[in-house]
Amino acid sequence: MRNQAVVLLAAVIIVLITWGLSNSFDVLEEAGYILGFNDNHQIKATFQRAYSITGPKCSLTRVCPSDHFALRISSGAANVVGPKICFDGKILMSNVMNNVGPGLNIVVVNGTNGQVEKCGYLNMDTGKAEYILAYLKEIRPGMIVLVASFDDVTPKMTDEMREVFVGMGSTLIKSVKHRDSWVFAGKAGTENRTLFEKQAVNDEKTNIYEGWPEIVEIAGCIPRTLTLKNRRI
Ligand SMILES: *[C@@H]1O[C@H](CO)[C@@H](O)[C@H](O)[C@H]1NC(C)=O
Ligand SMILES: *[C@@H]1O[C@H](CO)[C@@H](O)[C@H](O)[C@H]1NC(C)=O
Repeated sequence: MRNQAVVLLAAVIIVLITWGLSNSFDVLEEAGYILGFNDNHQIKATFQRAYSITGPKCSLTRVCPSDHFALRISSGAANVVGPKICFDGKILMSNVMNNVGPGLNIVVVNGTNGQVEKCGYLNMDTGKAEYILAYLKEIRPGMIVLVASFDDVTPKMTDEMREVFVGMGSTLIKSVKHRDSWVFAGKAGTENRTLFEKQAVNDEKTNIYEGWPEIVEIAGCIPRTLTLKNRRI
């Protein structure tokens, strides 16, 4: 009897999610009472479990198709608040996680299975240019690369580094200047222009922070790297 009720409740939850009534706890509670539950916590926990499995990830408004990954990337705000990178439902870099820093904040993910290979920041102010270039060149074709600026990405930026990003689908990196905000998601080994890129230009007439432009953010579903059989990366 109890098991049947759980199955029924799960069905009700799925239907509600499909209808987009995802926060209708009242309706859920009602459904729970009808089915003989009288413990709100249990109902809510069941709902939240179901929702976290089937609901949109990274605060998107829709669920990504199964051959895509959800992402949301925000640049830092001036040199004060760090950037934030969410991928496939997990926040991988943020101020709160204390793993962001001035320069290029980068997550490298296996584009086939979504496994995070590395994440960290390249300090574009005090870092060594040879090390930064080597780090970027090491990223293998097929890897998804997520990048967010913080403070200033240009002091150590060279044309050769910009070309690496062009090779991942960037078009804006060529025009990123002192203290511009920049966010990017692309794929190593593809020259095709990415849909996921934004820049805000540092201009004292339009800046919203004294010496920096506004935050930029990108969010959406990025296609997985298909297997070699399909010959498309
Ligand atoms: C991603 O992972 C798959 C499965 O583990 C592996 O075959 C593939 O080589 C990896 N891709 C890259 C670019 O390392
Ligand atoms: C890249 O662009 C080419 C030419 O426009 C197109 O044929 C190809 O399918 C694109 N590749 C991807 C992965 O979108």
